[in-house]
Amino acid sequence: TGSGYDAWLSYPKLPQGNLYKQYVKWCRAAVSVTEEQDTVQAALREWQRGITSMLDIESESGAEPAADGFTVAFGTFHGGNPLIEAIFDEAAIQAVGPEGFAVRTSLTHKCIAVGASSPAGVLYGVFHLLRLIGSQKEIERLDETVNPVNALRMINHWDNFDGSVERGYSGRSFLYENNRFTDDLDRITDYARLMSTAGINAIAINNVNVHALETLFISTYLPDVARIADVFRIYGIRLFLSVNFAGPMHEGEVGTADPLDAGVREWWKKKAAEIYAVVPDFGGFVVKADSENRPGPFTYGRDHADGANMLAEALEPFGGIVIWRCFVYNCKQDWRDRKTDRARAAYDHFKPLDGKFHDNVILQIKNGPMDFQVREPVSPLFGALEQTNQVIEFQIAQEYTGQQRHVCYLVPQWKEIMEFDTLAKGGAAPVKHIVDGSLWGNRFSGVAAVSNVGNDLNWTGHLLAQANLYGFGRLAWNPELSAEEIAAEWISLTFGTDAAVAGVISRILLDSWEIYESYTAPLGVGWMINPEHHYGPNVDGYEYSQWGTYHYADHQGIGVDRTVATGTGYSAQYMGSNAQRYDSLEECPDELLLFFHHVPYTHVLNSGKTVIQHIYDTHFAGAERADGLLAAWSGLKGSIAEGLYAQVEERLRGQAAHSKEWRDQINTYFYRKSGIEDSGARKIY
Ligand code: GCU
Repeated sequence: TGSGYDAWLSYPKLPQGNLYKQYVKWCRAAVSVTEEQDTVQAALREWQRGITSMLDIESESGAEPAADGFTVAFGTFHGGNPLIEAIFDEAAIQAVGPEGFAVRTSLTHKCIAVGASSPAGVLYGVFHLLRLIGSQKEIERLDETVNPVNALRMINHWDNFDGSVERGYSGRSFLYENNRFTDDLDRITDYARLMSTAGINAIAINNVNVHALETLFISTYLPDVARIADVFRIYGIRLFLSVNFAGPMHEGEVGTADPLDAGVREWWKKKAAEIYAVVPDFGGFVVKADSENRPGPFTYGRDHADGANMLAEALEPFGGIVIWRCFVYNCKQDWRDRKTDRARAAYDHFKPLDGKFHDNVILQIKNGPMDFQVREPVSPLFGALEQTNQVIEFQIAQEYTGQQRHVCYLVPQWKEIMEFDTLAKGGAAPVKHIVDGSLWGNRFSGVAAVSNVGNDLNWTGHLLAQANLYGFGRLAWNPELSAEEIAAEWISLTFGTDAAVAGVISRILLDSWEIYESYTAPLGVGWMINPEHHYGPNVDGYEYSQWGTYHYADHQGIGVDRTVATGTGYSAQYMGSNAQRYDSLEECPDELLLFFHHVPYTHVLNSGKTVIQHIYDTHFAGAERADGLLAAWSGLKGSIAEGLYAQVEERLRGQAAHSKEWRDQINTYFYRKSGIEDSGARKIY
C-alpha cells in the first residue's frame, strides 16, 4: 500500500515470464508440512503469504503432495515428513548446523525441500526460498547448505519504559507506552517476522541505560517480559534484558551492589532462577557498567571481571550469558588536559583483563574507539583479546550519520570494519574472524547492533533506513555478502524486480555514506555536531566539553595527535604495521589523518590536496551530490508505489537543504580560522 510497513516482507507481485511459470509449477500444489511446532507453522504462514502475494496462487498445506504435481516440502530432518526424510541423506544432515538449513530440488521426488535441524532453521530456509523467488532466481536445480557464520546475531533496543527511545529517530517505542508494556502483540509479531527473516536470533528489549522502573523488568514486570519472549520464541529469537548493576540495592533489599558480597551474589542467583521459571530460554543480561554515570564494580574497588563473573555465575546453570559492554571511559574529562585520550579507554580498561572472564561472559565492543562516528578506525581491542568471548557492536540507529533524515547506508562501513586485518596471531586476522569466534575458538561470539526502529508506520522513519536494518541481519548471518548484494536483495524484496528502479536505488544507497561523510566530517575528525541531540553542524559543539571529543582546531591547524612521540600514544594500541601506519604522518590513510595527527591546514594529503582545500572541496561536492540523490530519486516517480516514493522524496529534499547548512557552516568556520582562500573561489561566508 505504500506505507512501508511490510518492508522486506512486502512480496511484490512478480512479472509474468519463464521464471514466473517455473515458480507456479513448483509452488501451486499443496505444500508438504507435517509438524505442528509453532516455528514451523510460522514458516508455513510466511510461505503462504509470500507466494500468494508474489505469484497470486493459494497453496494449501497437507502431508501429501499433489498426485502428479511438483511440490514444496519443509521441516526438520527428523520431524516425520517423508519427503524430507527421502531427500536428505545422513551426509546432508551432518552438514547443517543448529540454525542452518539445506534446500534441494529433487527431480526424482518432484519436490523442492527445505530441511533443517531446528525449527528456526526451517524458518530461515523457507525465507531463503522466498528470497530466491522474490529476487527472480532459478529454483529448478537448487542444492545448497547454508549455515549462519555468526552464532549471536543480536539487536539492542534503546527503548525506555515511558515510550521514549534513546537515540530513536522513528517515532516512539512500539514495546512500551507510559510505563506499560504494549498490548499490541500483532506489531511485535510483525517485528519478530522482520527480524527473523533478516537472520536475527537475539533481541535485548530495553535501553542499556537502565532507569528506575526498567530495573524492575527482572522482577515486577517479569510476566510482561515473558509475553514478549513468547512471541519472539516462535521466530527463533531469544530475549535479553539490560540490567542495572545496582539492582540489588534498588528496593533496599541489599545494602550494596559489591560483586564480591555474598548477599549480592545470592540476590542475582535468585533473580536468575525467577527469570528462567517464566522465560525458560531467556538469553541473558546486557550490562553497561561504570560507563557514563551508570553504576558498576568500580564503586567497590572491583574490576569489570569481578562484576561480569558474578552475573555469569548466576546465569550459568540456566545456559544464560552476560554481555558486558566495553564502552567505558572518563566522561568528566577536562578539555585542557591533552594527555587523557578517550580513544584509549576501552583498550586500557579491558586488555589487562583478557582471560579473566568466565566463559559465559561476552565483551561487547563498539566498532570504533569513540562512538559510532561516520568515520573512525577499528577498535584496537579487536585482536588484542585472545582469551575472551567478544561481539562487535554496530549502531544501526543513525545517531551520528544523519538520524534517519539523511540517507546513509551503513553496510559498506560495517563491511570495511569486518575486513580490517588486525594482524593478530601474525596476520590474516580480520575482525570478521575474531567476532565469528574462529580465530581464537571462542565459546560465544557474534555481532550486535543498536536498533533503528520505532512506532513509525515504516519502522525506521526514513524508508531507506530499512536497508540498514535488513543489511545488518544479513551481514551478521554472512559477512561474505557484499554491500551491493545486500542492497540488491533488499530492493527487490521491497520494491520489486524492475532493473531500472533497482539500479537507481542501489546507486543512492551505495553512494550515501561517502556523501554524508563528505559534507559532515572530513578526514576522520568527527564530533562537529550539536551537543546532546547530536544533529546538525556545530564545529565547536563539543570542543570545550567534558566528553573527551575534541578536534583542536586553531588558526594554524586541526586534528588530534595520537602518535607515540608527541601525542597520546593511542596508535601503539594497534599491532605491527597497523601501529606504524597510523603513527606515521606520511602513511596514515587520508580518511583518518585528523584522527591520528594534528596538522597545519597547508599539510598536503596523499591525494595531493592540502587539508583546507580538501575540506572546501568535499563540502562543496558533498552538498551537490546530496542534490543528486534527490534528482535520482525523482526519476522514479511513477515507477514505484506513490506512498513509498513520496516519503523518501520528502526526506531527500530535507537532506539536500540540510547539507547546505553543513557545507556553509564547516567551510565558513575553517575559512575564518585559517584565512586561506578556496582555490576555486567559491562562495564561502
Ligand atoms: C552514546 C549515545 C548514548 C548511549 C551510549 C552508549 O554515547 O549517545 O545515548 O547511551 O552511546 O552506547 O551507552
